[in-house]
Amino acid sequence: MSRLQGKVAVVTGANRGIGKAIAQRLAEEGAAVVLAVRDPASGEEARREIGGPAAGEHHVLRCDLGDDDSVSDFGRELESVHPSGVHVLVNNAGILDDRHDDSLTIDLEKFRRHLDVNVTGVLRVCRAVLPLLRKAGGGNVVNVSSTMGQFEGGLDGGYTGYRVSKAALNALTKTMAYDLKDTPIRVNVMHPGWVRSRMGGADAPEGPEDAAETALMLATLPPDGPTGRFWRSQRQIAW
Ligand SMILES: NC(=O)c1ccc[n+]([C@@H]2O[C@H](COP(=O)([O-])OP(=O)(O)OC[C@H]3O[C@@H](n4cnc5c(N)ncnc54)[C@H](OP(=O)(O)O)[C@@H]3O)[C@@H](O)[C@H]2O)c1
Repeated sequence: MSRLQGKVAVVTGANRGIGKAIAQRLAEEGAAVVLAVRDPASGEEARREIGGPAAGEHHVLRCDLGDDDSVSDFGRELESVHPSGVHVLVNNAGILDDRHDDSLTIDLEKFRRHLDVNVTGVLRVCRAVLPLLRKAGGGNVVNVSSTMGQFEGGLDGGYTGYRVSKAALNALTKTMAYDLKDTPIRVNVMHPGWVRSRMGGADAPEGPEDAAETALMLATLPPDGPTGRFWRSQRQIAW
């Protein structure tokens, strides 16, 4: 059964890694996917590989999460490509560039950059896409976070900008879910696992399949489904 037939799904960072696997899984279920990427050339390559029943309806749009103007332009282009709205937004794109930095030594500019892309960037994209989610009559926002932002055990040992940004992304998810509680838009956040990718490295124990399945589950929640929760492997986990 095609659970997303006739639906439009936006995936940020869909040109590679976990974002590409999520885009592929949503496309298999019939979604017309918008690949929101920083580099349209690599987005085009991914678009050709993604396929699915709505393959001819996939689009690549430029969207740099760290740039207000780029995200505003993206919102306008998205509306011209899908004037009747969007049903799913997967905020997957993110950066990790501070493996060895603790809170006492991290360069402030680097710290700011993690917050700007991983938190403010998600907020920028949500603001650009929310009018189109409303236009479609509601839908699902799926944020890709990490257990490295979990308060119980997730915040110790280096990666300060990344960990703090993912804790803040979890908080943003909860606060936005509250702000949208009287609408048919749900906002959830997920941990994808430790996955082989440029960020996860070649030695990571998992492929992106489990993450893609969890993203699909959250992308297909009904209007009265759960909102403002943290997930891993299709189950709720603690903050
Ligand atoms: N891999 C893991 O083990 C793991 C674990 C926990 C959480 N996560 C989370 O999962 C998500 C995807 O990670 P991944 O492993 O697939 O990482 P990845 O292979 O490094 O891919 C990151 C993606 O984010 C995009 N991106 C980065 N900065 C951007 C910006 N300013 N604007 C737009 N796009 C931007 C990248 O685009 P470019 O190609 O242009 O750089 C790329 O598509 C991230 O949010 C990450 O924090 C991953």
